[in-house]
Amino acid sequence: MLVAIEGIDGSGKSTVIGMVADALRKEGIGLYVTQEPSSGEIGQLVRRWALQRSVDPHVDALLFAADRLHHYVTEIAPALRRGEVVITERYLESSIAYQGALGVDTEWILEINRHVPWPDLTIVLDVDPGEALRRVAARGGRPDKYEALHVLARAREILARRSLELGYVVVDASREPGAVALDVAEHIRKKLKARRHADA
Ligand SMILES: Nc1ncnc2c1ncn2[C@@H]1O[C@H](COP(=O)(O)OP(=O)(O)OP(=O)(O)O)[C@@H](O)[C@H]1O
Ligand SMILES: [Mg+2]
Repeated sequence: MLVAIEGIDGSGKSTVIGMVADALRKEGIGLYVTQEPSSGEIGQLVRRWALQRSVDPHVDALLFAADRLHHYVTEIAPALRRGEVVITERYLESSIAYQGALGVDTEWILEINRHVPWPDLTIVLDVDPGEALRRVAARGGRPDKYEALHVLARAREILARRSLELGYVVVDASREPGAVALDVAEHIRKKLKARRHADA
């Protein structure tokens, strides 16, 4: 089962995934936790290049799509074949929201991502962009070009609209991390149970 955790920068994805992974592993669930941009070579190029320099968001979309397909083939698919639950921090919806926020159209992003499967479950951590940026600033480090208030506001809007259209789970991420993690873990358990039930 493939679970994508989406949400704007500073929505708490890494924090919450860490807590959720601890809880689910204690319950004996085999997990593979990963993220995009990936740790592979294309992912490193994305971090170094697309996230810092400003060229054209279509170029970014192509790089993110290349990284995603490589990530899927080399890491996600093998983990799924081993029967593990894969949790990825960011996936397809991040491209639609972020490159979308800079004007790239959704249909084209879907087209260039055609060779990766949809996640079985998409969970969106929703938080106000002002609060998200305060968290990112407190975390330290140099902000990347997507970490601007108007970009995050637009990305949040796109995520919210698509969640409504496509039935993604939206979790209120303005609360303390423990409460957010409890909700996220519960949605993953529920989906796992439903799938086991369907297989039986
Ligand atoms: N629910 C929360 N309430 C307050 N602070 C939080 C919460 N969740 C995370 N934080 C803090 O906010 C900062 C950003 O969190 P985190 O790195 O988990 O976000 P992220 O969504 O993974 O961001 P990115 O998209 O940049 O990877 C961290 O310093 C973290 O400790
Ligand atoms: Mg993170």
